[in-house]
Amino acid sequence: MKAAEIRQTFLKFFESKGHQIVASSPVVPGDDPTLLFTNAGMNQFKDVFLGFDKRAYSRAATSQKCIRAGGKHNDLDNVGYTARHHTFFEMLGNFSFGDYFKRDALTFAWELLTVHFKLPKDKLWATVYAEDDEAYGIWKDVIGLPAERIVRIGDNKGARYMSDNFWMMGDTGPCGPCSEIFYDHGPDVAGGPPGSPDQDGDRYIEIWNNVFMQFNRTEDGVMHPLPKPSVDTGMGLERLAAVLQHVHSNYEIDLFVKLLAAAKAAVDAAGAGDCDAGSPSLKVIADHIRACSFTVVDGVIPGNAGRGYVLRRIARRAIRHGYKLGARTPFFHKLVAALSAEMGEAYPELRAAEKRVTDVLKQEEERFFQTIATGMEILEGALAQGNVDGDTAFKLHDTYGFPVDLTADVCRERGVSVDDARFHVLLEEQKNRARAAGKFKMAQGLKYEGAATSFHGYEHLVCETSTVTAVYVDGVQVAEAQAGDDAVIVLDHTPFYAESGGQAGDAGELRNATTRVVVDDTTKVLADVSGHHGHIVEGSVKVGDVFTARVDAERRAKTVRNHSATHLMHKALREVLGSHVQQKGSLVTAERTRFDFAHNAPMTAEEIREVETLVNAEILANAAANAQVMKLDDAQKSGAMMLFGEKYGESVRVLSIGSSKELCGGTHVKATGDIGLFKIVAESGVAAGIRRVEAVTGDNALAYLQSLETAVHGMAQTLKAAPGELGSRLQAVLDQVKHLEKELAAAKSKLASSQGDELLAQAVDVKGLKVLAARLEGADAKTLRETLDKLKDKLKSAAIVLAAVDGDKVQLAAGVTADAMAKVKAGELVNFVASQVGGKGGGKPDMAMAGGTQPAGVPAALASVAAWVGERL
Ligand code: ALA
Repeated sequence: MKAAEIRQTFLKFFESKGHQIVASSPVVPGDDPTLLFTNAGMNQFKDVFLGFDKRAYSRAATSQKCIRAGGKHNDLDNVGYTARHHTFFEMLGNFSFGDYFKRDALTFAWELLTVHFKLPKDKLWATVYAEDDEAYGIWKDVIGLPAERIVRIGDNKGARYMSDNFWMMGDTGPCGPCSEIFYDHGPDVAGGPPGSPDQDGDRYIEIWNNVFMQFNRTEDGVMHPLPKPSVDTGMGLERLAAVLQHVHSNYEIDLFVKLLAAAKAAVDAAGAGDCDAGSPSLKVIADHIRACSFTVVDGVIPGNAGRGYVLRRIARRAIRHGYKLGARTPFFHKLVAALSAEMGEAYPELRAAEKRVTDVLKQEEERFFQTIATGMEILEGALAQGNVDGDTAFKLHDTYGFPVDLTADVCRERGVSVDDARFHVLLEEQKNRARAAGKFKMAQGLKYEGAATSFHGYEHLVCETSTVTAVYVDGVQVAEAQAGDDAVIVLDHTPFYAESGGQAGDAGELRNATTRVVVDDTTKVLADVSGHHGHIVEGSVKVGDVFTARVDAERRAKTVRNHSATHLMHKALREVLGSHVQQKGSLVTAERTRFDFAHNAPMTAEEIREVETLVNAEILANAAANAQVMKLDDAQKSGAMMLFGEKYGESVRVLSIGSSKELCGGTHVKATGDIGLFKIVAESGVAAGIRRVEAVTGDNALAYLQSLETAVHGMAQTLKAAPGELGSRLQAVLDQVKHLEKELAAAKSKLASSQGDELLAQAVDVKGLKVLAARLEGADAKTLRETLDKLKDKLKSAAIVLAAVDGDKVQLAAGVTADAMAKVKAGELVNFVASQVGGKGGGKPDMAMAGGTQPAGVPAALASVAAWVGERL
């Protein structure tokens, strides 16, 4: 049975048992910052299990794309070396949300496996959590599995509930005891039954996990009972396919056969020649292209943090394995097409993004191959000296990004050793340095020990009694700063917004009876301490001074409009382009908003207009904005958009504006109508798979449109046409220019050839050969050549040089008739002349061209031609 059929059979079976078939969620969980990647089918139902969310159904079945390459469930290092580990796999799952429980779950599983998939009953084993007598009883008495094939497993991982038979999604979230079903691949394969010391062999393979969700584990480790006991199951499609296709390794199933062949072909073509088809490295590559492609589909880009870092690690691991097999040029990205052919039908989002995924991986791969090339050069240098010392290995790793295991691989091949111990000492030292540098940066110059700044700027633009808690000049804390100083001033409370979350800091003024400070920026000194960067115009500033702090209201209003518009634009981009659009960066200033996001292609004019229309419709609706501080959990439940990789505190601020809801600490308009007008002014690419949109709002949008209008009017006046007719008028002008250019060229050539006739008279006789060296005013290269040909025809036996001067450029052409070519060569002749006018040239014996840069030398150069020719005759 092919994998596609297995997927279908599973879903249809559960549909027949009253389950709703639900599509796979993305591998990047949209709004769950606790999770790196989707690691189980139940992820998309987390809130349903917890009782926060309700669905129209109480039973569901899915085939879910999963990634286990980081976080709690991480199989990365096993991939390629066992028969059944993957970074990416498909999990078939059925779910009960407070509907059926253990008995139905296990009997459904048994029926599907033994009746529909026709697995022999005597090959199946089950495990239960040691304390779970109920599950044990169902296996033994209801299903009739012999007791010797039911294994109880307790807390075997060192702590309460830490067990192979107690499943947790992560450190927090829904969890419960589970019962796993194993398939016995038979005595020919090494390995022992579950719970035995050699259970990790490949003989007894877990194929299906049935989790009985009973608790919610919170961060403090406490298990809270769930409102309703539920069921969450997961069966690895690849493992089941291996069983049903009678192969021992997942890599032998139909899903992998073509992918492995494509991997071999790509690696071979990239320089390996004919690599070993059975190499584990090919399995690594075939597995990793799946994980890499599906993460890129969902908007992840290789990078140095968070999900981007995991993606980069997986991609580079695959490339390294290709390199090990002999690939010397990029090959990995070429497998996206093969993968799309294999899985595009089940997951159409992959097919749709095929080109973007290929481009993103190609760019990463090209970069990494460059890294490898540079590193190999250094490594070869070191190898020439003998063993590789720890310092070199470390420098390769630290400075050049050359992976240490690649260094080790190369050294192993050459039979030399690497000083591993020294490498690790250096690595540790570097980590300590980095930690110290981190601390230093926090306190750099601005060492602050006072109270936090309380921020009043959401409601107020003026605080009457802001008290100074610290003053810095040139990065050093001072007792008092004087008029003329540029200072950073910390206040106990302030209406000034300190730059963060992409929003620029406020500007404004601090003032009291004697002192005035013009503030041009506000930044964070520490997470909750704001520094006002200002110039002291009059008076002085010292700790304890009290000021009226006044934010530049106009600049703030502009910034706020841009910030609120950014939220609406983010929402609209997801609507127009798709939910893979994820924020990759943003900058909001008084002038404009700049927003970077994951997307595969330049936006079309149509898409840009659609986004503008959606945002402006929200502006016209004039909906009130509303900020609410709530627990992170509640924010998640409310569906607010959050960014992965951001550190969110216990409580967060959720900003609802129009149809958008996002976590945000920034300042915003009171109602969408305050934005006035929204206009996108630029769209560009910043990296493979990342686009940048820039937009303006309010009076800036008006000014932008007015400047366009001014430009259009200016053109209309110049072209003497109404703005609406500019297009056709411009086209007419361009047509006319083309026509005139043609006419001009014809006139030039006519003129030049008429000059040519006049030149005939200037030819002199040198030992029976006509020699002509003359200027042809106003001629271009083409006319020079044509005139030269005509003169040759007319003079019959001649050596000719023609020169044309245009500004400080000299054009030369020389021609010699066939009868004289044996003695006088046009190439040499033109070079002789060119060398006298600062140029060089050459060409064939009958015809040659050259250029020069010294027009002043032309008369003498032409005069020297007759003598030069004479010498050769
Ligand atoms: N969520 C369970 C697992 O991943 C089914 O094993």
